[in-house]
Amino acid sequence: MTVRTEIRPAAPRPKTTWWRRPWVAPLALIVAVFLAYSVPPYLTLDPARSRVPAPAGFAAHYWFLVAHITFGTIAIVGVILQIWPWLRRTHPVVHRRVGRVYVFAGALPSAVMAGIIGAVSPFGPVVGALDVVAALLWLGFTLAGWRAIRQRRYADHRKWMVRSFAMTMNTLMSRALSPIAFLLVMPRVEDKEELILTAGTLSAVLSVLSLLLLSQWWLDRKPATAR
Ligand code: HEM
Repeated sequence: MTVRTEIRPAAPRPKTTWWRRPWVAPLALIVAVFLAYSVPPYLTLDPARSRVPAPAGFAAHYWFLVAHITFGTIAIVGVILQIWPWLRRTHPVVHRRVGRVYVFAGALPSAVMAGIIGAVSPFGPVVGALDVVAALLWLGFTLAGWRAIRQRRYADHRKWMVRSFAMTMNTLMSRALSPIAFLLVMPRVEDKEELILTAGTLSAVLSVLSLLLLSQWWLDRKPATAR
């Protein structure tokens, strides 16, 4: 008796729209460009090359800024690894280890430094207040995410860490939005100094707002599966 094996064509995979495709690689590229542009002036440890003017009477400001950027770099590289679904799925031990580095050698110390330098920001009181708020949110979200995983509350861990990730993107997002802020402000402000200050303030406000909204939208769109 001959057995006939029928080869059926594979069922067509459901078409995924482009915004549902993997987004980790493009985001990693954006982060790499941001770091390549922002970090080098601070590698020289020369205060004269700082892009942030030191406020009068705060001589150590530069060193707080350098510490913020060093821990911030660890945080932003770490968080990209943490949100990579493939790494989480296939290497849970790596996810745990990188997670500890992200929390204790990245986000928490960088947020504390951000709060201190933010409080005396030379870019005006609104940016300063917003920096302090963003730093406290970063600190709070990260601690809540850490506490949740220690207590094995997986859905809460995911929720708080998505928010912590969003705050890690704050300086990058604010830089990315500043051309838009300039375009919005330019028709209404003539004085150059005022223009720079107003556009800087607007991009800082839009950054925190958009990151909070985007992270909430992501969480509502993809609610956690119960574990
Ligand atoms: C919630 C998160 C963050 C907050 C609140 C924050 C806050 C600040 C503040 C206050 C400054 C000084 C400028 C000013 O006075 O306004 C600053 C500068 C800077 N931050 Fe952050 N930061 C955050 C996250 C990060 C991360 C994750 C990185 C990653 C490397 C980073 C990199 C930098 C750099 C490179 C500068 C120097 C600015 C420049 O040279 O243009 N920040 N940030």
